[in-house]
Amino acid sequence: MAEYLHFRGAVAQAYAEGLSARLFEPFGRDLGSKVGKEEEVLELAAGSGAVTRFLPSNTLVTDLYADMLVHNPFGRERVVMDAEAISLRDASVDVVACGFGLMFMDLERAYPQIWRVLRPGGRLLATVWLPLEAQSFNRVANGWRPMFYKPFVYGDPAVIEADLRKAGFDPIHLTELVHEVSFDTCEDAARAFIGANAGMLNELGNEAEAGIAELAAHFQQLGASPCVGTMRAWLIEAIRPTT
Ligand SMILES: C[S@@+](CC[C@H](N)C(=O)[O-])C[C@H]1O[C@@H](n2cnc3c(N)ncnc32)[C@H](O)[C@@H]1O
Repeated sequence: MAEYLHFRGAVAQAYAEGLSARLFEPFGRDLGSKVGKEEEVLELAAGSGAVTRFLPSNTLVTDLYADMLVHNPFGRERVVMDAEAISLRDASVDVVACGFGLMFMDLERAYPQIWRVLRPGGRLLATVWLPLEAQSFNRVANGWRPMFYKPFVYGDPAVIEADLRKAGFDPIHLTELVHEVSFDTCEDAARAFIGANAGMLNELGNEAEAGIAELAAHFQQLGASPCVGTMRAWLIEAIRPTT
C-alpha cells in the first residue's frame, strides 16, 4: 500500500474512535451475517474490528498495521499480515473476510493469495464502496477538495467481477448494501474523515484544524446535528470452485 495512505498512530486512533462504529460497523454486521459460526475464517485488513466483532470468535484477525490491531479486541489471534503475502497454508480456511480493504491492495497479488488459502468451495466475502457519487459524505467532501479518489474506490462491478474471474473465482455475486450513517455533529464527521485519512492530513500539514472547520461547514448540507448521509457498498461473495 502506498505509504501516504498508512493507518498508523493518530490515524489509527482517529479511525478506531471516530469512524469505525459510525461508518463501518453497519456494513460489518452485513458481512458477518453471511458467515457460519463453525466456519474457519481468515480476516484481512481487519483494522479496529468493525467486521471482526460479527465474525466467529476463532477468526484469525490480520492487518498490515499493528496500530490498527491494537484497537481490535476480537477473534482468536491478531497478526500483522500483508494481504499480498498471506502466510497460511494452501486450502486452509473456509472464508476470507475483508471489510473495505481490497481498494488499498495490489489485487493482482492479493486475489491469487486469497484464492490459494481458501479451501475448494470456500468463499471470499468482502465489502467495497460503490463509486463516490453514490456516497453522501464523500460526495460533499470532494466538493470541498478532492480527498477521496483512487485508491479509495474500487466500485465498478464489471471491473470487480473481471478481476475476480481472472484470479479463478466462480461464481461471483455482488449485492448492494445501503445504510444511513449518522454523526452527532458535522464537526465530529469532519474530524473523523480527515483524522483517519493520512493522505489528507499530510496535505493539510499545520492547517488540519482549519481544514476540519471548512469540511464541517460543507457537511452542514447533510444536517447540522445530527449530520446524516447515505452510504452504499457492494457485498462481494466470490467462490473458489471445487474443481
Ligand atoms: C478502511 S480500513 C478497513 C478496516 C476494517 N476492515 C473496517 O471495516 O473498518 C482499511 C484497512 O486496510 C488495511 N490494509 C491496507 N492495505 C493492506 C494490505 N496490503 N494488507 C492488509 N491490510 C491492509 C489498513 O491497515 C486498514 O486497517
